[in-house]
Amino acid sequence: MHYHVLTLFPEMIEQAMSHSITGRAQKNEQIVLETTNIRDFSQNKFMKVDDYPYGGGAGMVMEAEPVYLSYEKVVKEVMAAGRKKPKVLFMSPQGKTFHQEMAIELAKEEDLVFLCGHYEGIDERVLEEIVDEQISIGDYVLTGGEIAAVVMMDAISRLVPGVLHNDVSAITDTFTDNLLEYPQYTRPVEWRGKRVPDVLMSGHHANIEKWRREQSLLRTKNQRPDLFEKVEFTKDDMKIMKKNLAFQDEI
Ligand code: ADE
Repeated sequence: MHYHVLTLFPEMIEQAMSHSITGRAQKNEQIVLETTNIRDFSQNKFMKVDDYPYGGGAGMVMEAEPVYLSYEKVVKEVMAAGRKKPKVLFMSPQGKTFHQEMAIELAKEEDLVFLCGHYEGIDERVLEEIVDEQISIGDYVLTGGEIAAVVMMDAISRLVPGVLHNDVSAITDTFTDNLLEYPQYTRPVEWRGKRVPDVLMSGHHANIEKWRREQSLLRTKNQRPDLFEKVEFTKDDMKIMKKNLAFQDEI
């Protein structure tokens, strides 16, 4: 996976991606991160990349040309390496809301370009010219697209084969089947008077699986009723729910 980030703040991206699993994945070359500073393509001797909005109003607008030139540089590089023209994603609160299925689809790409805006926005003409999809990470307004790009790259990276040592965790994750994950415990057995559930120490794998599934169902019902409605229950789920009073209104 090759990420290309067009930004005025490359350090924000590089720093955030340099730790933990995304840092290790870069060292192992499972993901390659290249940031391009849009300011390097300024057409102005003061290296300015923004200007006043036509029609007036608050704030500044990023100019089309430096954004276009930085995009063009990245596309030429990718095509010269023999790969196909990459998808360009523009981070914007006006975009479709990012979710796990989008991460799964995007993880199949070889290259992704993330365009990060700052200030009041980017000249619409260059967006029309280069952007394939506008994506939001949620219904709130950030100061720029960088953190949104990092959120997306983080979620996508853990789905790239080999990035997680235990690929099973990417598959059994929260959201993959509309169920939240069950609770986890580690030593000590008793912490400040609270004990680990006995079943987890029983060594009885079938009972452990059943307990975990029940916890996932319970958590989803209580914490995310919107997801719970979309769960496709198995026969075993129905058995579990019949035995538990907390689900009486479901069956
Ligand atoms: N830029 C500003 N706010 C954003 C959001 N919520 N998602 C993606 N990009 C943004």
